[in-house]
Amino acid sequence: MDLGRVLIVDDENLVCWSLAKMLKRVGHSTEIANTGADARLKLKSFDPDLVILDASLPDINGLQFLEECKAENSALPVIIMTSSYHSNLAFQAFSLGAEDYIGKPFNIDMVERSIQKIFVKKNLEKDAVFSQGRLRKKHLPDQLVGNCPSMVDLFKTMNTCAQQDCKTILVLGESGTGKELVTHGIHNLSARKDAPIVEVNCASIPDNLLENELFGHEKGAYTDAGNREVGVFEQAEGGTVFLDEIGDMPLNMQAKVLKIIENRKFRRLGGQEEIETDVRIIAATNQNLHKMVQEGTFRGDLFYRLNMMCITLRPLRERKKCIPSMVEYFIGRLNAEYGRNVAGVSSSGLKELMAYGWPGNVRELRNAIERAMMLEKGRILSVEHFSKENQSESLKVGGCDGGCSAPVSSRIILPSEGVCIEDVEKEYIKQALSRYDGNQTKAAKCLGLSLDTLRYRRKKFGLENYPTQKTPSIAAAPKEDGLVNSSRAIPV
Ligand SMILES: Nc1ncnc2c1ncn2[C@@H]1O[C@H](COP(=O)(O)OP(=O)(O)OP(=O)(O)O)[C@@H](O)[C@H]1O
Ligand SMILES: [Mg+2]
Repeated sequence: MDLGRVLIVDDENLVCWSLAKMLKRVGHSTEIANTGADARLKLKSFDPDLVILDASLPDINGLQFLEECKAENSALPVIIMTSSYHSNLAFQAFSLGAEDYIGKPFNIDMVERSIQKIFVKKNLEKDAVFSQGRLRKKHLPDQLVGNCPSMVDLFKTMNTCAQQDCKTILVLGESGTGKELVTHGIHNLSARKDAPIVEVNCASIPDNLLENELFGHEKGAYTDAGNREVGVFEQAEGGTVFLDEIGDMPLNMQAKVLKIIENRKFRRLGGQEEIETDVRIIAATNQNLHKMVQEGTFRGDLFYRLNMMCITLRPLRERKKCIPSMVEYFIGRLNAEYGRNVAGVSSSGLKELMAYGWPGNVRELRNAIERAMMLEKGRILSVEHFSKENQSESLKVGGCDGGCSAPVSSRIILPSEGVCIEDVEKEYIKQALSRYDGNQTKAAKCLGLSLDTLRYRRKKFGLENYPTQKTPSIAAAPKEDGLVNSSRAIPV
């Protein structure tokens, strides 16, 4: 059953690919248009229920095209995407009727939530063809799974934090360990669950716009400020503010966040009035804040305040006992998503998974299972589908902590027959892009490259469209039972 048609209009193929992949996974059908002209045709032939539109297209300004869409069908929801976050542009987009505004690089989970919200609203408003319940059933909520002792402790701590209404929580852990899932889990376990959880990725918003994003502004507060706009702290009233990648927050903003934590009050930009706020603040990072405090790049007072309730997620290599239950969960989930009927992993395959170091943590495990399911047409995932993971380990930099600032380890051994250094470089770039589902910001960070350098090298190696879209074979009807038998699971 198709949960709604989405037209993606963007000239960046990777963006189109990642959006289409996510949308298909949750049950939508998609069409892609790389130009305004193509989009015009597809508006007619495809008749979308939602348009995701890049603000700058090769042949037309995105906002102009938004106007065209709205003139054609004023009820058609349009999400605007842009690579340069600009509050004025956002304001224009909203005043032309855009439903949402997303800055690039985007967090795919956030985009997914935004789209889901739009469809739920649209369906509730319009007709009962796709009820919210149906949407929920098809789009299985993410679950936090794992039955090793550290996960059991984690579930307990999350529950305690949620029930006791801890006002500030710090979640630490390498990339891919589940910080975002834990944050949503705490929110959903708490009495705040019916109020919003609003996320700010401190690394992806330019420093000078972060204050506006968090606190909002009064009309005319600065040159581009339009009407009064509320910030994240007001949007999340009664709920949770998730400050993701807090290690990237500039020092002056850290001081302001500390003030909010202490006084529970803030002012909008250009505002006189002190606004009281009742939110829980959950901050997360994969950086070593303690070290940053010593180096003077993170405020000690904010760190000590946040650290009073700190949840540290252990890397997957230190909780390998969780792997079998996670594998079982991911197979069940992917069976349901792709309509497959995979029964499990062969014992030698599981051995391989248990022996591997998982520098990309649970995200990498999920991707490995997904890749194996694409390659395997039968019901058992066998060892050869995972052996690539081990091959790549010999190329890996040691002790990658997600930020991947660790030195190149002595594990890199030059083969006796020599090596083509460009091939090695290309392979690393491919692996980093795969590990982060095509997210250039994270891949660049992991490789120690600037975003521009990564873009340049992708072009040089012909990797602009890498990772390419997988085309799963759709077999039997979705099997949604027995997803998490032996493991503990918390829906988040
Ligand atoms: N315990 C878990 N059970 C099931 N899935 C998990 C678990 N931990 C992580 N995942 C999955 O791994 C992926 C990464 O998780 P998440 O985004 O929460 O990690 P993160 O720590 O926030 O990473 P980053 O620092 O890169 O933002 C997601 O697909 C998530 O669903
Ligand atoms: Mg995260």
